[in-house]
Amino acid sequence: MKIAVYPGSFDPITYGHLDVVSRATAIFDRVVLGVLVNPQKSAAVLSTEERVAVIREAVAECCPVAVASRIDVEAFDGLTVDFCRASKATFIVRGLRAISDFESELQMAHTNRKLAPEIDTVFFMTALEHSYLSSSLVKEISAFGGDVGQMVPQTVVRHLSARKRGL
Ligand code: PNS
Repeated sequence: MKIAVYPGSFDPITYGHLDVVSRATAIFDRVVLGVLVNPQKSAAVLSTEERVAVIREAVAECCPVAVASRIDVEAFDGLTVDFCRASKATFIVRGLRAISDFESELQMAHTNRKLAPEIDTVFFMTALEHSYLSSSLVKEISAFGGDVGQMVPQTVVRHLSARKRGL
């Protein structure tokens, strides 16, 4: 059985991430979407538990049942390669939106391969219609009251607006 881990901060998950994970199920038997517990690049808007719950709802909302049934969503702490080994995954899935993503993704792929030579990284080119999307911009637009309904699933919209209302 071919298992892949799709690791990320997913704060919040966007239609770009969902496009990548659903296309990955065409290649892998199972895809474990790994939610990093403490993303360092910015303060997380959604807690780890919220991100996991929102992603599970988003997968159920947006993916056909045959696809959703092969996607697991789990939180992880520590190294991605350790999470891959624990999940029995021999592939890491990542999305590439533009050439600007390439440099850091190449570095991560080489580093992960050095740490775990048995685990390879497979890249998906994010669908053109989602290639402008970023979680950071979604957070910023939402914080200023903008409409992110075309960028993220409805469950994410609901969670972001509940967060703004302090719920
Ligand atoms: O969604 P992101 O923030 O671009 O995802 C980055 C992520 C989670 C893939 C990366 O930060 C990561 O793998 N973190 C876990 C710690 C780790 O393994 N670091 C070494 C990576 S080469």
